[in-house]
Amino acid sequence: MCGIVGYIGPKEAYPILMKGLHRLEYRGYDSAGVALMDQEIKLYKQKGKVSELEAFVKGKDVKGTVGIAHTRWATHGEPSQINAHPHFSETKTLAIIHNGIIENYSVIREELKRRGYHFSSDTDTEVLVHLIEDIKFNEKVPLEEAVRIALTQVVGAYAIVIMSKLSPNKLIAARKGSPLVVGIGNEEFFIASDATPIVEYTKDVVYLDDEEIAIVERDKELSIIDIRKETKTPYVQKLEMSLSELEKGGYDHFMLKEIFEQPRAIKDSMRGRLNAPLGIVKLGGIIDYEQKLAKAKRILITACGTSWHAGLVGEYLFEDLARIPVEVEYASEFRYRNPVIYEDDVVLVISQSGETADSLAAIDIAKRNGATILGICNVVGSSIPRQTHAGVYTHAGPEIGVASTKAFTAQVTILTLMALRAAQLRNTISTTRFNQLINELDIIPEKIEAILRQNDKIKKIAAKFKDSRNFLYLGRGYNFPVALEGALKLKEISYIHAEGYPAAEMKHGPIALIDKEMPIVFIATRRGMYEKVITNIQEVKARNGVIIAIATKGDKEVAKMVDYLIEIPDADEVLVPLLAVIPLQLLSYYIAVMLKRNVDQPRNLAKSVTVE
Ligand code: F6R
Repeated sequence: MCGIVGYIGPKEAYPILMKGLHRLEYRGYDSAGVALMDQEIKLYKQKGKVSELEAFVKGKDVKGTVGIAHTRWATHGEPSQINAHPHFSETKTLAIIHNGIIENYSVIREELKRRGYHFSSDTDTEVLVHLIEDIKFNEKVPLEEAVRIALTQVVGAYAIVIMSKLSPNKLIAARKGSPLVVGIGNEEFFIASDATPIVEYTKDVVYLDDEEIAIVERDKELSIIDIRKETKTPYVQKLEMSLSELEKGGYDHFMLKEIFEQPRAIKDSMRGRLNAPLGIVKLGGIIDYEQKLAKAKRILITACGTSWHAGLVGEYLFEDLARIPVEVEYASEFRYRNPVIYEDDVVLVISQSGETADSLAAIDIAKRNGATILGICNVVGSSIPRQTHAGVYTHAGPEIGVASTKAFTAQVTILTLMALRAAQLRNTISTTRFNQLINELDIIPEKIEAILRQNDKIKKIAAKFKDSRNFLYLGRGYNFPVALEGALKLKEISYIHAEGYPAAEMKHGPIALIDKEMPIVFIATRRGMYEKVITNIQEVKARNGVIIAIATKGDKEVAKMVDYLIEIPDADEVLVPLLAVIPLQLLSYYIAVMLKRNVDQPRNLAKSVTVE
């Protein structure tokens, strides 16, 4: 969602800010803007893409070594030039950029109107900048103190950066519930909503905590206070990310690059955690909590979207291997339905971005009920790992394509390791089966390589189906969540309607849809509920359905029955989701490309959903 970049230092700010906005484009947005400090604050904004802002600004004065820039994903007020950030205060002395939502904005707005303030936009952000100005004038306090006082009055989530004409060598940044990172360079500072705009300039960063305010001033050290006025010591961390991870590296899209990165991403997620020859699974991040996990009466997995699908695979894994009852909940429902949570529950939160608002709210509820909260997260330093008791990073590397691919397989890899470790501690798995599974897991990356080599074949199948308007994805057991994930991938990037179902559930409704116009994607791998799925395939064939099957290599029976076949290497059913999802990702990708969709930034979608 919205993106923030700020700069103060010896260099011209504009090129740094624009490059930063391009790096943040993957998050999804619908307008962009920039403010630069010279003698005056110069402010430019435009509806649409960053390139449209650049075209608009071309030839105008962009001088200045201090600046802030923003990409906005509309919440309050339509996407428009007026609603785009930055926003000026009444006297144009202050300019602000803001991610998040100020929930009590209408009350503050009415009060400010009574005091003579004018509002040109429909945003909650303009309310905040007027409020800061009002406090500054009335209280006659420095900018950071006016910001602090204002933040004690607002309810909601924010990451903000503010510049003032009266303090031209200073930026004030603050966060609550929306991420913010300060990069410390050589006599320069960078501020951003994630580390991607910063990494090419410095690896030294400070992640702000909730309710912290950073004062970033030329020729001074970074200083941080919180909204209770307590001074904080900045905790400088080294970024692990590299610049090449943020570039397409010769691929047409980030999504394709990330699909092809999966063998590497899975290896990275297992590195130091799985030692197959020695029969060891060790998850350092949760080592102090693994007894809690093993003794849990119940595991509640909560997440959204693709991460929720990974959670469903987790349910099969923990119940099957470790015999712990599991419930999988959409975080958006969990947070509002007064769930029953016990102190001996383990709540497992899964998130690629670590910033999903609903997942953060679910953590809050679980905490209030005294449960142990563990996380599986991809983005180092993001909010979810900070809120959980302990957790495991997936180490899949930055995922830039909006459609999640490598994060999903890395999440499933970590869930497999966690379930195996819990099973070992609970004695619900024999040593032989444990060793067999970890040895197979160890070579999953090579099996994925073999599937990726079928890229051209999958592309040809995609060409046959690109004009279909509806798809059904069917699978059973471990492959049911894969069917859901396959359908989600297709709809989000191609805008084709697709649904995933447990294959047997088809008879209870979706069978009515089957005709020769609607492709049915079956995940029909040989282990697990193979015979049952074969029966379901026959039911579809009997109704003239067109079938694309993901089947185990060499399976002649499925080959005879279906119209299009994609073979994947044989694997234990426990590990099949890691393989079966790969051709589905490629199928969606090629269909979307052939339909000329914006694959990496599909319409209406954002990479990290930081609002409800
Ligand atoms: C789908 C997708 C979304 C996310 C969901 C949760 O491809 O990307 O469905 O999975 O918004 O996001 P995270 O995992 O960041 O919490």
